[in-house]
Amino acid sequence: MASLSLSSAHFSSTSSSSRSSISTSSLSPSSTSLPLLQSPIRRRYRSLRRRLSFSVIPRRTSRSFSTSNSQIRCSINEPLKVMISGAPASGKGTQCELIVHKFGLVHISTGDLLRAEVSSGTDIGKRAKEFMNSGSLVPDEIVIAMVAGRLSREDAKEHGWLLDGFPRSFAQAQSLDKLNVKPDIFILLDVPDEILIDRCVGRRLDPVTGKIYHIKNYPPESDEIKARLVTRPDDTEEKVKARLQIYKQNSEAIISAYSDVMVKIDANRPKEVVFEETQTLLSQIQLKRMIKTDKASPVQDKWRGIPTRLNNIPHSRDIRAYFYEDVLQATIRSIKDGNTRLRVDINIPELNPEMDVYRIGTLMELVQALALSFADDGKRVKVCVQGSMGEGALAGMPLQLAGTRKILEYMDWGDDETLGTFVKLGAIGGKEVDEEDDMFILVAPQNAVGNCIIDDLQAMTTAAGKRPVVLINPRLKDLPASSGIMQTMGREQRLEYALTFDNCYVFRLLYYLGTQYPIMGALRMSYPYRYELYKRVNEENGKEKYVLLATYAERPTPEQIDDAFSGKSRDQSKKASGIWGFLSSVFS
Ligand code: AP5
Repeated sequence: MASLSLSSAHFSSTSSSSRSSISTSSLSPSSTSLPLLQSPIRRRYRSLRRRLSFSVIPRRTSRSFSTSNSQIRCSINEPLKVMISGAPASGKGTQCELIVHKFGLVHISTGDLLRAEVSSGTDIGKRAKEFMNSGSLVPDEIVIAMVAGRLSREDAKEHGWLLDGFPRSFAQAQSLDKLNVKPDIFILLDVPDEILIDRCVGRRLDPVTGKIYHIKNYPPESDEIKARLVTRPDDTEEKVKARLQIYKQNSEAIISAYSDVMVKIDANRPKEVVFEETQTLLSQIQLKRMIKTDKASPVQDKWRGIPTRLNNIPHSRDIRAYFYEDVLQATIRSIKDGNTRLRVDINIPELNPEMDVYRIGTLMELVQALALSFADDGKRVKVCVQGSMGEGALAGMPLQLAGTRKILEYMDWGDDETLGTFVKLGAIGGKEVDEEDDMFILVAPQNAVGNCIIDDLQAMTTAAGKRPVVLINPRLKDLPASSGIMQTMGREQRLEYALTFDNCYVFRLLYYLGTQYPIMGALRMSYPYRYELYKRVNEENGKEKYVLLATYAERPTPEQIDDAFSGKSRDQSKKASGIWGFLSSVFS
C-alpha cells in the first residue's frame, strides 16, 4: 500500500514559515487587476507558497490563455562559435571529430583546407606546399582569405562553427577581430612536449573517412583500414620539433587575444575523458545562452540548479516547494504558448510510483499548488481523479489512487468558496466537463490490470476542446492482463492518443542500480527549454552537486545518456550493459 505523508506540515492552514520573503509585488501583476478574483484564493495560494518556502519569482500568467506561439522563443538553435587551439598533435582534430558529431558544428580546419588545396594542385596549394612541408606557417594573407570565405558561408552561420588551427598568429587574430568574428569559447589543449612528438610520429590518417588514428593509442579497427592508412609528410620527428617551436613563438599573443573566453584543458588524458570536459563546457554555454535570450523566463533566470539530497525521504519542505514551483512555471509557459494537451512527468523518489515510497500526499500537494495558482489568476480549475474501472465484482481502481478523491476533499483549500467555486473536484470522463471549467488537472491517470483509462480520457479531452488538460504523472502504457485483452485491442490507437500530450515538464532521477541508491544523475526538461542531463558529483565534506553534461532538443535515448556519461560518441559506444544497461530498462 502506498504510504501517505499527510503530516500537518503538508496541509495545515497556518503558515509555519517565517522565512518567506514573498511580497504582494512578487505575485503576478495581473492579480491586482482581477476584480472577479476572490481575495481569499490569492491569500490561500500565497499562504501555501509561504508555508513551503517557494522562491520569490515574479509570475507571468495572464488572465486569458493565449494561443499565440510568439511569446516564448526557445533559443535552442542559436549556433555555437568555438575555437580550438593547441600545439601540433595536442588532439585538436581528434576532439573536433567528436564535437562535430555531438554538436553538429561546421568544422573549419585550416590544416585540412590547405591539404585539400595541395592535393588538388590549386595555386593556393602550390604556394602553401613548401611552407607546410617544412613545418612553417603558410603566409597570413592566404589563410585569412580562406577562413573568411568559409566563415561567411550559410552552413557556418546556421549551424555554428568550430575553428581548428586558426588563428595561429597575432595578425590572424586581428583579422578576425576586424571582421567582428568572436568565439564563445577558446579551448586550449595542453599536452607536454615529449608526448606531442610521439603522437605526431605515430599518427596515421584514413584517406577514405578522414578519421585520425595512432599506431599505438588508437589503432585502426580492421586490417582493411590499416592497409590504406597514410602518414602526413610533416609528421617526422624533425618537422614536429620545428612546428612546435613555431607554435610556441606565436601562442602567447593568440592566447592573450582570447583570454576572456579561454579555457585550458589537460589533454594528456584519454580522448574520451578530454571530450567529456569539452562537451560539458559547450553544453553549459548553450544552456546559459538559452537562459539569457529568454530574459522573461523567471525560473531559468533564478533557477537554483537541482536540489541535493534527493534520496532523503521524506523530502524536505524546500525540496517539495522547489519542484512545485518548477512544474508550475513550466505549465504556465506551455499554456501561454497555446498548448492544450500537457503532460507532467516528475519522478522524484516521493512521486515515483515504481518505488515503494510513493506518497500520494506529495502528489496531492503538487496538484493543489498548481490548482491554486491557476485559480489565483482567475481560472476555474477542475481537478479530476479517475473513478472505479471495470464492472461488478471486477470493479476496482489502481492502488495508488485509492482514497485520493477523499484526501482532496479533506485538504485545506482556504476559505469555503475556493473549493467548489474556483477549484472543483471531479472524475475523469466526458460528462465531467462543464461549460464554466477553464482547465483540467488530472491526477495520475493510469491503466489498471485489464482496464484502460484512455476511453474516458479521450471523451474528456474531446469535451474539453481547446481548454488545457494537464496530466500529472500519467501511466498510459499497457499493463499485462491475464486475458491478454489490453495488449491486443486498440493498442495502437491508445498509444497514439497518449502521444497527443506534450511533455511540459520532465524530471527523472537516474540510478546506477535498480534502486534509489546511489543517484547517478538527473534528466530535466522545463518547457520550452531543452532536455538537460546532469551528473551527480560527490564533493568534499560529504556534499554533492549536479553538473550539466549535455542538452538535447528531444528526450534523449538510453544510448545517448550512456554516451554522455561515458564521454563516448555514438559509433564508439558498445551495446548498453551493466549500469548503463539499467538505463535502458528505465527508459524503455
Ligand atoms: P594542422 O593540420 O592544423 O596541424 P597542427 O596544428 O600541427 O595540428 P595537428 O593536425 O598536427 O594535430 P592535432 O592537434 O589536430 O592532433 P590530432 O587530433 O591529429 O596544420 C598543418 C600545417 O598547415 C601547419 O604546420 C602549417 O604549415 C599549415 N597551417 C595550418 N593552419 C595554419 C594557419 N592558421 N596559419 C598558417 N599556416 C597554417 O592528434 C594527433 C595524434 O595524437 C593522432 O594520432 C591521435 O590519434 C593522437 N591523439 C589525439 N588525442 C589523443 C589523446 N587524448 N591521447 C592519446 N593520443 C591522442
